[in-house]
Amino acid sequence: MKKDLEYLLELGWAYWKSQVVFTGVELGIFELLKEGGKEPADVAAGFSLRRRTQPKGCGYKGGKESTEIARRLGTDPRAMEMFLNALVSLRLLSKRANRYQNTSVASRYLVRGAAAYQGDRIHHLHNIWPRWEKLQESVRTGRSALEEKEDEKPDPQRVRDFMTAMHNYAQMKAKTLLKRLNVRSFRRLLDLGGGPGTYAIAIARKNPRLTAVVYDLAHNLEIAREFIKGAGLEDRVTTQVGNFLEEELPEEAFDAILVSNVLHIYDPPTNISILKKCRKALQPGGRVVIHDFLLDESGTGPLYPVFFSLNMLLGTCSGACYRGAEMKEWLFTAGFSGIKTRFLDKDSAVIIGIRG
Ligand SMILES: C[S@@+](CC[C@H](N)C(=O)[O-])C[C@H]1O[C@@H](n2cnc3c(N)ncnc32)[C@H](O)[C@@H]1O
Repeated sequence: MKKDLEYLLELGWAYWKSQVVFTGVELGIFELLKEGGKEPADVAAGFSLRRRTQPKGCGYKGGKESTEIARRLGTDPRAMEMFLNALVSLRLLSKRANRYQNTSVASRYLVRGAAAYQGDRIHHLHNIWPRWEKLQESVRTGRSALEEKEDEKPDPQRVRDFMTAMHNYAQMKAKTLLKRLNVRSFRRLLDLGGGPGTYAIAIARKNPRLTAVVYDLAHNLEIAREFIKGAGLEDRVTTQVGNFLEEELPEEAFDAILVSNVLHIYDPPTNISILKKCRKALQPGGRVVIHDFLLDESGTGPLYPVFFSLNMLLGTCSGACYRGAEMKEWLFTAGFSGIKTRFLDKDSAVIIGIRG
C-alpha cells in the first residue's frame, strides 16, 4: 500500500527532479567539478548500490566545497548547498567531507566535450517544458501547443539547441544502427530530414566508398555543415536544402535512403506520400530505411515511445509514434517489398523496404 502511494506521489513531484537536472546542466556545475578530478574509486564502484553521502574521509581534498562552487558560479551560497545536496540525492554528484564531485554518470554524460555528452539533450528537454504545460489544453482540443507561426523565421539559438540535442542522441544510437544495417553495400545515400547529419557521417565513416547527401530545411543544414566539416567529410557528405513535402526528390539517384526520426512528425497519409517519393528517388533494388520509435501492439508501451507520442501531439500538427505494423503497411502501399524489421533497443527499430 505504502509503495503504491509513494509511486503515485512521486509521479506528482517527478518534475522537481527534472528541474534539478536542467539547472545543474545549465549552471555548468558538472564542467566546474571536472576540474576537481575524478571521484574516489570506492565512491565510483558503489554508484549503483549506495547513496552518495560519505561524510567520513578526514583530510579528503578531492572535489569542491559548496561555498567555492557558489563563488565560482556567482550563485547564492545557501541555495547552492541545498541544490548540490539534491544533485547528490539524484546520484549525479557524490559528497565526501563536505566536498562535491561528479559521479561516473555525470562525468560520462554531463561534462561538455565527453564522447557520450548528453547535456544538450537535457537542455532541449527543458526548452520544450512550456509545451508540456499545455498538455491538458492539447488533450481537450486535439491541437498542438505550438505557438510559432509557420512563416516565422525560427530562432537561431533554438535551432542550434535542437540540432545539438539530436546530435547527442544520434551519436549514442549510431553504433547500434550500424550493427543492424549492411552499410558497406551502400554507394549513394540520401539522409532525408537528416538534421545534424550524424547518421550520414557515421555511415560515411564506416563505408569509405560511400557518398551521402543530407537533405533538410535551410536553417538546420547550417549546423549539419559544421558537423560534416568537423568530421573532415566535406568531400563525401554534402547537403541539399529542400522541403520534401513540397518538392520532388531527384529520380533514381540513390541506392539507400535513411528516413530517421522523421515519420513521427507527420500523419499516416503524409508518411505514405513521403515513402512514395523515396521509392521514386531510389534505383531499382535500392533500400529505404525507416528508423524510428515503435509502439507495441496495444499502444501502451514501451514507456518512452508512449510519452514521445504525446510530445509529438504537443509539438507537431499531426505527428505521433506508430506501431511497426503500420509502418510496414505504409511501405507496402508505397510499393516496397522484402520488408524487414530489426530492433535497435526496446524503444526503436529500423524497418527496411526494397524497391523492386
Ligand atoms: C527529429 S529530426 C531527425 C533528424 C535526423 N534524421 C536524426 O534522426 O537525427 C527531424 C528532421 O526532419 C526535418 N524535416 C521535417 N520535415 C521536413 C521537410 N518537410 N523537409 C525537409 N526536412 C524536414 C527536420 O527539419 C529535422 O531536422
